[in-house]
Amino acid sequence: MIIAVDGPAASGKGTIARALAAYFGLPHLDTGLLYRAVGLTLKRAGGDPASEADAAAATGFADGVLADPELRTEATGALASRVSAHPAVRAALMARQRAFAHRPGGAVLDGRDIGTVIAPEADVKLYVTASPRVRAERRAVEMAGRGLIADVDAMEAEIRARDARDMGRDHAPLAQADDADLLDTSELSIDAAIQRAIALVEARVKRH
Ligand code: DC
Repeated sequence: MIIAVDGPAASGKGTIARALAAYFGLPHLDTGLLYRAVGLTLKRAGGDPASEADAAAATGFADGVLADPELRTEATGALASRVSAHPAVRAALMARQRAFAHRPGGAVLDGRDIGTVIAPEADVKLYVTASPRVRAERRAVEMAGRGLIADVDAMEAEIRARDARDMGRDHAPLAQADDADLLDTSELSIDAAIQRAIALVEARVKRH
């Protein structure tokens, strides 16, 4: 069983994908980490995120970078969003994601284009979203938990800018697949969102 989980930044898709993987006993790939690794590698090499050649060169990142804590910062997320707009970057990361999706027994992948480009044949597709305000508030709470001060308005502006870039790009833009189930988590607790996601997966599997 392949489960594709797509959605915008801070929608809860990562938490939901991890929970689905644990519940159904499947391996999980957070594909955003691959784009983040490209962004961070480019930055460390002194590259220009607007240059497709610089970004493509960074796709040969060392796997060790996938465990780097700097991968998780908002700055790296924004850099990932910029380099991910280059078709050469998307093409270079495709085989790895497709191979993961087609592991025997199945897999859960989360990202922006899993249900539309990486695994259009996925058995279950969820499009997880929440309002920009709610996503900004969640990020602020998460940051406060790490002892960081967050300005919710600034965070919301950053989230809106990242949505616009991820949804507006020419190649594999973030979009809900026609056959994806929509899960809006704006009004849901994490636990309620996970329960709803499990129910959506089970309903799809029954219909197969
Ligand atoms: O999910 P995330 O915030 O870690 O993703 C960081 C950026 O990487 C995101 O803004 C756009 C890009 N990305 C992508 O283009 N396609 C994916 N499948 C995953 C992430």
